[in-house]
Amino acid sequence: MRRITIPELSLVALVGVTGSGKSTFARGHFASTHVLSSDTFRAMVADDENDQSATEDAFAALHFVAGRRLRAGRLTVVDATHVQREDRAKLVALAREYDVLPTAVVFDVPLAELRDRNRNHRDLADHVIRRQHEALRRSIRHLAKEGFRKVHVLSTTDTEVVVEYEKAYNDKRELTGPFDIVGDVHGCHSELVTLLTRLGYVVTEDGAHHPEGRTAVFVGDLVDRGPDTPGVLRLVMGMVAAGTALCVSGNHENKLVRALDGRKVTVSHGLGESLAQLSDEPAEFRESAREFMYGLVSHYRLDGGRLVVAHAGLKEEYQGRASGRVRAFCLYGETTGETDEYGLPVRYPWADDYRGQATVVYGHTPVPKATWVNNTICVDTGVVFGGELTALRWPTRELVSVPAEKVHYEPVKPLAAPRRPRDLLRIDDVLGTRHVDARLMGRLKVREENAAGALEVMSRFAIAPQWLPYLPPTMAPCATSTTDGVLEHPAEAFAAYRDDGVPHVVCEEKHMGSRAVVVLCRDEQVGRSRFNAQDGAAGAVYTRTGRSFFDDPTELLTRLRAAATKADLWSTLESDWLILDAELLPWSAKAEQLLRRQYAPVGAAATAALPAAVAALENAAARGTDVTALLTKHRARLRNASDYVSAYARYCWPVKGIGDIKLAPFTLLAAEGRVHATNPREWHEQLLNRLTDADPDLLRHTRRTTVDVTDPTSVAAATDWWTALTESGGEGMVVKPAVTPSDRLVQPGIKCRGRDYLRIIYGPDYTEPENLARLRQRALGRKRSLALREYALGMESLTRFVENEPLWRVHEPVFAVLALESEPVDPRL
Ligand code: CTP
Ligand code: MG
Repeated sequence: MRRITIPELSLVALVGVTGSGKSTFARGHFASTHVLSSDTFRAMVADDENDQSATEDAFAALHFVAGRRLRAGRLTVVDATHVQREDRAKLVALAREYDVLPTAVVFDVPLAELRDRNRNHRDLADHVIRRQHEALRRSIRHLAKEGFRKVHVLSTTDTEVVVEYEKAYNDKRELTGPFDIVGDVHGCHSELVTLLTRLGYVVTEDGAHHPEGRTAVFVGDLVDRGPDTPGVLRLVMGMVAAGTALCVSGNHENKLVRALDGRKVTVSHGLGESLAQLSDEPAEFRESAREFMYGLVSHYRLDGGRLVVAHAGLKEEYQGRASGRVRAFCLYGETTGETDEYGLPVRYPWADDYRGQATVVYGHTPVPKATWVNNTICVDTGVVFGGELTALRWPTRELVSVPAEKVHYEPVKPLAAPRRPRDLLRIDDVLGTRHVDARLMGRLKVREENAAGALEVMSRFAIAPQWLPYLPPTMAPCATSTTDGVLEHPAEAFAAYRDDGVPHVVCEEKHMGSRAVVVLCRDEQVGRSRFNAQDGAAGAVYTRTGRSFFDDPTELLTRLRAAATKADLWSTLESDWLILDAELLPWSAKAEQLLRRQYAPVGAAATAALPAAVAALENAAARGTDVTALLTKHRARLRNASDYVSAYARYCWPVKGIGDIKLAPFTLLAAEGRVHATNPREWHEQLLNRLTDADPDLLRHTRRTTVDVTDPTSVAAATDWWTALTESGGEGMVVKPAVTPSDRLVQPGIKCRGRDYLRIIYGPDYTEPENLARLRQRALGRKRSLALREYALGMESLTRFVENEPLWRVHEPVFAVLALESEPVDPRL
């Protein structure tokens, strides 16, 4: 009986002349779904399994299916002759693409026998059999070189063959620990003994065991640089032999083996120390150490697949796979091709993109403290460089570290990158594709091109980032109304919150001005100490894109400060500073150019031309010409045009000084120690009413009404309130949850704009039925998603600010809000 082993996950090529028994073997030894046969695929693409003209298409389909199977981690057997090298090369390439092992099973049958069988099999011309046979004979001894990791040659005497499956070397899923995963040791024997002892191991010179049966897992780089590489090897080799430890290979073991084998390697990065120390050891030890290191597997899957250990980490698609590039990734990681200021290769931050299920524990890159990044953690804390030796306990995820006894080896670059000054922003904080973790929503992505756009805007126009702890989010409108003559109506806003399980909402008047964020400090000293402002100011007033409203905001800030003091906000909030979300009026103060260039010319042209047109049509009608339709249309357009002009005219008045400015604060965003934005609306109302009462000439109240969206009477009253508000020239309202739900994310506000106000947005004639029908097609999904993401980022930046995080951390989500604003969303929403 002949036993052959096949890796559980491999691409098996059956190799043999026609009639050599490949299909017979496949039927007897593999499940039918494992086998992809060229005959079957010929039949599939050409309805005839003997149609040689379909060969190319058949193989294209076969390779496609094989690729999908391998990607999914399924054993795949290809039944085709494979007597030509180029046919086999395609399979080897396919196996490499999916990082599985290519295996060849060869059917070596004498020519006479093949001729014999051919007569009853396919009955091909004799020269075909002969040529295939010659090609096969020539191929057999080159298969390993071609890349087949296992080659089994079966002859006619192998009448009984048993296929046995071999687990991948890296598959230790049956081991459940508990484990102690130890970072890079680099010859620091003494610290290793201390750590193992601390972890509860009983340590001897050539081994260690844990009374509770724990298993140590070493992430590689046991050797080089440190004072006692042989001691570390002896200890770990003993543990591995006794089954109390596992060890994966590090790049240093890989290189040390090559040096011990007498291969030409550059003796650097502490290799010299290892070679010197090992030369003092007996030859047998050197040999067994070489064997040990040579045999180290590059990664392990443990604990049912929940844990992966690899020296430099491992991305998800490589886990459990075997190929040169998987091994290279495990040993070295990937690099970006750049070098840093110390001349060292810049490592590609694979962990930032990691989304895998398995936890990956690795070493390789010394870090000051082991920190989780997505489900991955680096436990190399640079003991040899004077840092610590760290272990992660699994499954409890507890970190245990012991300090280095000294700096054993001077690092090329500082282990702990010098702590970044709190106020330093770096270009690579914002460039490229960004991922920002916002606690309300998780990880949010900022596209590279949007980040580039935001950088442009930020660096040209925005105020100093110290004054910019927040940018307000965009706000989604209510769902499009089907009510006659309007595009937006309160019913949809209320329904949205009812569906979201928010029964109590507040309708707030939407002031028609420009969004303004006010940072207000009690004095310049607070500006310096809390905001680290360099400009000697005591606050800032800025727009949605971070631009200052005024060349010099001092006058406005002084008035606001006086009001805040009079209203006793400083002691109420126990803070020397506060941040307000507000609307600054008039609209024309910021939007003057927009008005002059866009709205006013449209209004002026329409109100000049349309009366003339109407007059001409009236004359024509008086003379008896039937122009009824045209006249009706032009009268409507004239009405629309004058409504349009009065719509924007209401929001404009000349501004000569601060006396002409009005500010309507509607939310107190934050103050020392707390983000207040999510406080109940009533809290904001009371506090801000106190503030506005303190300076009614400057500050405007926000009119409000509360609604129970489950009560039709309450809804009807609020609808009337909105109608009255918008018919008397109001822009509209914003509906907000009376209390922000703490267990889920809902829209922080939904706007519902007035019929006439929307003329400014959609054009004077948008209310004409044919226009409304078209405009009702608007899609709101992106706007809603954007509003939520920007809101989460805004809350994130405020939280980071009140938690005193460094400027770059606060700035990160602020910048992201601005970047998200370049996402393509209908600007009229
Ligand atoms: N056969 C045999 N002894 C074996 C294997 C096969 O006599 N040990 C016979 C089969 O019964 C069949 C013929 O040889 O009649 C061809 O076998 P098959 O498995 O179909 O050969 P393949 O290698 O698959 O040939 P092809 O490349 O033409 O598909
Ligand atoms: Mg066959």
